[in-house]
Amino acid sequence: MAQTLRMRQIGLGIATFVVAIIFILWSPRRREYQPYSPSISTPVPASSGRSFGPDYHGQSSPADINRVTNSTLGFSKIFVIGLPERTDKRDAMTLTSSLTGFNLEFIDGVKGEAVPDKAIPFGKNRDNLPNTYLGSWRSHMNAVRRQVLSPQFNGLPKNDAGQWRIPPIVEEDLESALIMEDDMDWDVRLQSQLETVAKGTRALSGSGSTPNSPYGDGWDLLWLGHCGEIFPEQLPENEGEPLYSKFFINNDKTVPPLDKITGLVDFKSHPEFTRWVHVTGAPICSFAYALTRRGAQKVLFDLSVDRLDANFDNALGTFCRNGGSRKGDPTGLHAKCLTVTPPVFFHHRPKGLIGSESDIVDHGDESQNIREKGTSENIMWSARNNIRNMLMNTKMESQF
Ligand SMILES: *[C@@H]1O[C@H](CO)[C@@H](O)[C@H](O)[C@H]1NC(C)=O
Repeated sequence: MAQTLRMRQIGLGIATFVVAIIFILWSPRRREYQPYSPSISTPVPASSGRSFGPDYHGQSSPADINRVTNSTLGFSKIFVIGLPERTDKRDAMTLTSSLTGFNLEFIDGVKGEAVPDKAIPFGKNRDNLPNTYLGSWRSHMNAVRRQVLSPQFNGLPKNDAGQWRIPPIVEEDLESALIMEDDMDWDVRLQSQLETVAKGTRALSGSGSTPNSPYGDGWDLLWLGHCGEIFPEQLPENEGEPLYSKFFINNDKTVPPLDKITGLVDFKSHPEFTRWVHVTGAPICSFAYALTRRGAQKVLFDLSVDRLDANFDNALGTFCRNGGSRKGDPTGLHAKCLTVTPPVFFHHRPKGLIGSESDIVDHGDESQNIREKGTSENIMWSARNNIRNMLMNTKMESQF
């Protein structure tokens, strides 16, 4: 949610620095990044005509991959977390997603003050988890919990005898959900990006030819929006272990040029315009992530019922990192997390008062300054900046 974002902006700077230091100190030798083995690559589908917008239904084979272009992007639902009073963010998200071609469901964010001491998980208390972080954690947990409800019971009323009214056929099966914060931006061509992402997640999760989810079935979490991520072989605990396979998306015209791209991977040692789908290393920021129901169950256990070790973003990162580590905790949950780098969702800094950007962080002296034009890192055809072009069917503007 917006809250998370702002605290992240500060946290991110620190976290990025800390991660960088950890790498420098802990990796005795930098690995050669190439060749990865095995690697599979596929170019972004050639566009014939307009390959975006609500009327775009995909051009991939096998054809069931094209389910990612439906109105929930191939997931069962899309949840957006944010404070209900930030109507400005809800207006923008609703408009931008509808023009891009998908539908959202808002989940009301929670303020930390509303979480009583007794509801704070083992491992944390109000002193070491300030209200801003606490609210963000709880908001995400509420979204995750929605998904854990067993499908038969989800949203169904009870009958007079107090029993659940279970339909003969499961009507709402939240087999997967995409959860994002309320100031996300993405490329206008999101659906076709997701077609290639789905090819990658299918290849890496070893799914059969007819998976339930267009993204394949073997995963718990897909990290689609983050502020920086590394490959798992860069983790100190994987030193000396074989490289992980990666899915290369080559010549992806939706990837920013090398001088504009941001993140933690050494992009310059790879061909320009490459995107990867890979086993999650240690991502920062939980902008947008998808969970299968099983993934949601694991997250609800690992970040709430069992304990909470850090603020939400870092705890989710650790959850995935343990699963991606070959020498990881054998008693852990073996989370199967996959990441898209550079990410396809990124947080948007809107035009207007810089001080209204955050629901948490006070921008101090800067807060009365005006930003004349909105920006989003790593997004070429920013959907937020192209609202008018989408509405009027005029030429899209690239940020970089
Ligand atoms: C979109 O596709 C997914 C995967 O097949 C499915 O679970 C979901 O229900 C679809 N969304 C809609 C609105 O039909």
